[in-house]
Amino acid sequence: MRGDHTPGRGDEVSPPHSFTDDANAAAGVREAFAEEGLDAWSRAADLLAWDRPYETVVRDGDRLEWFAGGRLNASHNCLDRHLDERKSHVALRWEGTGGESRVYTYLDLHHEVNEAAAALRDIGVEAGDVVTCYAPVIPELVVTMLACARLGALHNVVFAGFSADELATRLRRTESSYLVTCDGYYRRGNAVTQLTTADNARMAVDHDVDPVVVERLDDDAVYLGDDHRRYADLLDDHRGETVEPVARDATDPLFVIYTSGTTGEPSRVTHTTGGYLAHVAWTGRAVLDIEPFDTHWCAADAAWITGHSYMVYAPLALGATTLLYEGAPDQPEKDRLWELVERHRVDTFYTASTAVRSFMKWGADHPDSHDLSSLRLLGMVGEPTDPEAWNWYWGHVGGKECPVVDTWWQTETGGILVSTLPGVDPMRPGSAGPAVPGVDVAVVDREGEPVADGDPGHLAVTTPWPGMSRSLAREAAGTDNGADDGWLYVTGDRAVRDGDGYVTFLGREDDTVTVGNTAFGPATLESAVIEVDAIAEAAVVESSEQGGTAVAYVCTERDHGGDDDLREEIGEHVGERLGPTARFGEIVFTPELPKTHSGKIMRRLLGAIADSEEYGDTSALRNPEIVGEIETVANDE
Ligand code: WTA
Repeated sequence: MRGDHTPGRGDEVSPPHSFTDDANAAAGVREAFAEEGLDAWSRAADLLAWDRPYETVVRDGDRLEWFAGGRLNASHNCLDRHLDERKSHVALRWEGTGGESRVYTYLDLHHEVNEAAAALRDIGVEAGDVVTCYAPVIPELVVTMLACARLGALHNVVFAGFSADELATRLRRTESSYLVTCDGYYRRGNAVTQLTTADNARMAVDHDVDPVVVERLDDDAVYLGDDHRRYADLLDDHRGETVEPVARDATDPLFVIYTSGTTGEPSRVTHTTGGYLAHVAWTGRAVLDIEPFDTHWCAADAAWITGHSYMVYAPLALGATTLLYEGAPDQPEKDRLWELVERHRVDTFYTASTAVRSFMKWGADHPDSHDLSSLRLLGMVGEPTDPEAWNWYWGHVGGKECPVVDTWWQTETGGILVSTLPGVDPMRPGSAGPAVPGVDVAVVDREGEPVADGDPGHLAVTTPWPGMSRSLAREAAGTDNGADDGWLYVTGDRAVRDGDGYVTFLGREDDTVTVGNTAFGPATLESAVIEVDAIAEAAVVESSEQGGTAVAYVCTERDHGGDDDLREEIGEHVGERLGPTARFGEIVFTPELPKTHSGKIMRRLLGAIADSEEYGDTSALRNPEIVGEIETVANDE
């Protein structure tokens, strides 16, 4: 169990002075927002360059219009306006698999985005069209996203590992006639072909889809047909051309994206140009503390909202260097990320909470063997964090010198809504913190009524925010700017809120584990399991087949095996922590948990295994091979 000196749940850790002295968000910012109401968001808009100033921070109409009347272009904001001050500063640094790397200054990126925009324009892309991108984390993906933004076209980035079916659905539903893809890419040293999958998807939709192909593979293993346009040729044909950025209304869409869909069907979300960009720039500055000239690394795939907001738009809007990494975190060795942090002197590092648990499992010697002193701030996102993982990250990666921000948000929210401000608020391991300034949240019951402080319930956002999706902006319309009692955005997450506003997340509602008459958020049970020595990760699900019992899937740390003694220890510890109801019908040891490509644990699938049900398609998983293994282990017991 943890030693006395390690902060646990409920303990407070002050951010280090070395950090707070120069932090972007300083004391007083919460008070200023509280005083000014929604108008305080003008601070976020002030981080952007506007072609036409907005008339009002928020206007109510058919939908809430953030920065109504204003016009701007996102590509101009991420590139052109930085050229005076930092044209030779690195905008994008890319590390591919297999040791390749590329560096783009702001001027280089500006050139290539202009050429790509000219090329897309000449093949017919116009403002309002949807361009689908289907490629891994390569610079051309970011270039295409910004080229679309330049033209006022919407990008629709589809994760490169998705199947032809999934790509076809997204092409069809967005009526997208343009596709930017690649011939293939490398994963763990092996070439994976992408073009055949892309072509199969094109054939499966009724409308024509015009493909542009980035040649990523070294050889000519993949044959490009007459209808495939080569990205490199298109750029050559437009060498040196510039395209005027198309001024967009603040409320015009910037892109569409599908939710990751761990629990339900993926749904389409559209984000605006002004509200979204202002929100991600402001939170990138205040929460992730990104500064111009910093190297910021968001270790996610660009296809997820985290990649859109904090790998592409926030760091570039703020004039920083964004680091892109195509490969796996354990290739060629499990210290790969720390080697990159050391080599590129990364300032701010943002990753999935579940990734931190994997790092713990791999062992502290990996970060410990690198000089990580360039790091100033560490961030996490994606799943509830247990104090154990928090401490490991804080100690082994941050050397207890970097604030850790546990940021809560969703595809629908566009940017961070709940997190401590690293320069202002004390941190509490295991709790994400209060809502960011300008945002209010409440924990409510099924009827939408607030529950008492400290009681579990459903997390709702009770004020609108600039990064809200277009459909949420429509729902919030006509409710006195979201301020009347009628409007709540119920998020689908269970949480507890303390008297002073700190929110602790308990997991998705759909994943609630009911044992007897007690409903537990999966995170509550999992975090108790992880407290036991030698446990690295756990996922707890409900088994209805076994009469409403909880089943724990548990990964041990390196060099530890799982046996009945450990099962007993887990059972006893969890009983002590959470009371006698918190019992497991079964504890299954597994080398890995099934995770989606964005790092979320697929609890729904584990629930199906616990109930011996069909678990269906596993193509959304990063490690589908583990499912069979878990089934075998589970059945043997
Ligand atoms: C979960 C990712 C606890 C939550 C940006 C949310 C979190 C879902 C946290 C959205 C966090 C995200 N603590 N849970 N810090 N961050 N989540 O749309 O369940 O891929 O509803 O957006 O991730 O996932 P999405």
